[in-house]
Amino acid sequence: MKYTYNDRDFDIKRYPSTTNRSLQPWNAADELILEYISDLSDEHESSVLINDRFGFLATTLFKLQPLSVVNHKSHQKAIERNYVSNSLVLKSRTIKTPFGSLPDTDLGVIKIPKSMEAFEFYLQLLHKSLRENGVIVCGFMTKYFTPQLLEISSKYFEEVEQSKAKKKARLLILKNKKEIEQQAVTIDIQFSDKVYKQYPGVFSSDHIDYATQFLLEHLSVKESENNILDLASGNGVIADNILSQQPNAEVHLVDDSFLAVESSKMNVNEGAHFHWKDSMEDFDDGSLDLVVSNPPFHFEHETNIEVTISLFTQVQRCLKSSGRFVLVANKHLNYKTHLDKLFKTCSITAENDKFEIYECLK
Ligand SMILES: C[S@@+](CC[C@H](N)C(=O)[O-])C[C@H]1O[C@@H](n2cnc3c(N)ncnc32)[C@H](O)[C@@H]1O
Repeated sequence: MKYTYNDRDFDIKRYPSTTNRSLQPWNAADELILEYISDLSDEHESSVLINDRFGFLATTLFKLQPLSVVNHKSHQKAIERNYVSNSLVLKSRTIKTPFGSLPDTDLGVIKIPKSMEAFEFYLQLLHKSLRENGVIVCGFMTKYFTPQLLEISSKYFEEVEQSKAKKKARLLILKNKKEIEQQAVTIDIQFSDKVYKQYPGVFSSDHIDYATQFLLEHLSVKESENNILDLASGNGVIADNILSQQPNAEVHLVDDSFLAVESSKMNVNEGAHFHWKDSMEDFDDGSLDLVVSNPPFHFEHETNIEVTISLFTQVQRCLKSSGRFVLVANKHLNYKTHLDKLFKTCSITAENDKFEIYECLK
């Protein structure tokens, strides 16, 4: 999609691409952020962008040479692809994960995530690095406003100002940081005689997801299954269960979220293999005996099963012949139609009023 900023035309694309025309690579909150930044009179030597999902801001603001903090591998790929397709050069130090500290910052930009825990985590990160006269600009669509945004912001900043709404988007402008004590970063979840740890914003932060619990009640790993993948692994609770059944199995975990992968390292035996990836590109054709998953279908405020179906296709490629794919899903998603096309057999092995467990054989 074309966008003109400061007299230059940009072509910004989503990654992964979608056939759904209502899903766009930026929204009115991104445009409002750009408008605010171009009106700033001060020079900003050092700027940081957080949660810029498709790299719209990183690309249009390339002259500021912003540092992009990315939690998702897919966001990193989106930024890299948009730089290349707009003939821009991405330096190796312009993308980093949300771990470690940031360089001194004059201008911080946050596209507000759905998870308020993640918002606070990002705010803490910027609060530490922001210079005295620095400013943080946060963009959001007004329908997702929650009073928590103001509560959290006021913990860290003396000045918390809301802009007027424009095209149903609004900004929060934060200035004048408060002295605060840093808080514990990880969250504990008690489940099945164990405490699982995870970083803020990782899937299902106050309990192990009920679909996952249902899957684990019915998951039985066969002795012959040695090469196993927990796909979309989150905090690693499924991989942990697999290893408790088959301690000698070679278990892999794949997740798009860096904070999820780092969380799973705290919960799963270190002999497992952790992959921060948004695809199964690390796996050869016909290499896996078993893939287990509670697959994603929500991406922030968006529901999108194209990503899910692409993962199913990759599972089919990577399973050995007669390998198994076991997954849990909300009943209303009706994945059977898609799975039937990809696998030799697909049956529902358990169900309750909300969830179904599918077993597919290649
Ligand atoms: C429904 S959660 C399941 C998490 C965990 N397995 C559990 O049961 O608690 C789905 C996970 O998929 C991850 N995810 C989203 N898109 C992905 C992709 N393209 N590849 C791999 N993981 C992805 C999300 O980060 C999230 O952790």
